[in-house]
Amino acid sequence: MGAEQSGVRAYAGAMGRVRLGILGGGQLGRMLALAAHELGVQTRCWDQREDAVAGHVGGLHVDDFERPARLDAFLRGVDVVTTEWENVPVALLEEIERRGVPVRPGSLALRVAQDRVLEKNLARSLGIPTPAFVAARTLGELEGAVREVGLPCVVKTRRFGYDGKGQVVVRKAEEVAACWGALGATAGGLIAEGFVPFARELSIIAARGVDGQTRFYPLVCNEHAGGILRVSTSPAEGVSEGVRARAEEYAGGVLGALEYVGVLAIELFEVGGELVFNEIAPRVHNSGHWTIDASATSQFENHVRAVLGLPLGDAGMVAPGVHAGMVNLIGSMPDARQVLRIAGAKLHDYAKEARAGRKLGHVNVLAGSRGELMERIGQVRGLLR
Ligand SMILES: Nc1ncnc2c1ncn2[C@@H]1O[C@H](COP(=O)(O)OP(=O)(O)OP(=O)(O)O)[C@@H](O)[C@H]1O
Ligand SMILES: [Mg+2]
Repeated sequence: MGAEQSGVRAYAGAMGRVRLGILGGGQLGRMLALAAHELGVQTRCWDQREDAVAGHVGGLHVDDFERPARLDAFLRGVDVVTTEWENVPVALLEEIERRGVPVRPGSLALRVAQDRVLEKNLARSLGIPTPAFVAARTLGELEGAVREVGLPCVVKTRRFGYDGKGQVVVRKAEEVAACWGALGATAGGLIAEGFVPFARELSIIAARGVDGQTRFYPLVCNEHAGGILRVSTSPAEGVSEGVRARAEEYAGGVLGALEYVGVLAIELFEVGGELVFNEIAPRVHNSGHWTIDASATSQFENHVRAVLGLPLGDAGMVAPGVHAGMVNLIGSMPDARQVLRIAGAKLHDYAKEARAGRKLGHVNVLAGSRGELMERIGQVRGLLR
């Protein structure tokens, strides 16, 4: 065992400090680590890449997820394990659970969230409205599935989709064969979903503690372009008390059914004043990044609190009447000086290497009214290429 590792153990032993292991070391792991360190919690992120940006702010363990060579070493250095990447192999989570190290949220939540059919079945079983959906494993099944859900529809890979990748909108029956050509080879099969003519996209960020207590953040309104989240604002404008209560009821149902511990996000479509389930993210979520600057307790801190068995914090705004927004920085970074000159703007730079389509950072924006928020968000967007 290296000196560094024994140092971590000696520190943990002497100070009685809890050490948090995080599977995944991207920006979500980085922001979880920042929140954990404020609570005196040491972190060790496990990533498959040496340049993972969570390694800048805490310990980094580099190993393969499918065939780990140093699982023992990782587990010796941590007391609780959580995930920031939803595609961590379920078999790895089960192995960690088998070895008696708490995994929060547990393997069940990841198993369900990794498969669009399982997560929609869960929603349906809880009485949460979903688009019509049918699974397909062959071209013939896909043709049948598209007939059943109707046109237009969205065909997606059941597994491994993100940022709109692995999905095709099908508008005519003649397009099904080309869609199968594009996606059919994906392991795990496909799902055809009815196209939801939504008025807007909302999400709810929720937290559940080891003792079952829950917290819900104000509803978030999300704007996507090119399949990638661009802007989130919260509280979402004009949400009725009924819609807010329903979103919390849906989130509470999912949290309970999965015996979930930690922060979870549910992406929803708002259509005709109703909420339709899209998907769950079993982790802190991009549409909750504004909570770092605008909430009494950020999603990252509440996730850390939850998985360590600590009391959850207030998920309300830092002050009454605060309006919050988040602008993703994708592909290239704006000039930091210009961002920082904007009133109410807070820059979060993940220190990643720039690459087309890559999430490199975000700007949180705080304001005293919806109008002021949208004006400030407009200023930030004006700096983006
Ligand atoms: N059934 C649908 N009807 C209409 N639009 C849809 C439907 N499914 C997905 N979309 C659109 O495509 C976007 C991405 O879909 P989805 O959230 O399922 O995929 P994803 O790749 O997991 O996305 P992300 O990683 O950004 O959350 C949605 O936010 C929405 O704008
Ligand atoms: Mg999504």
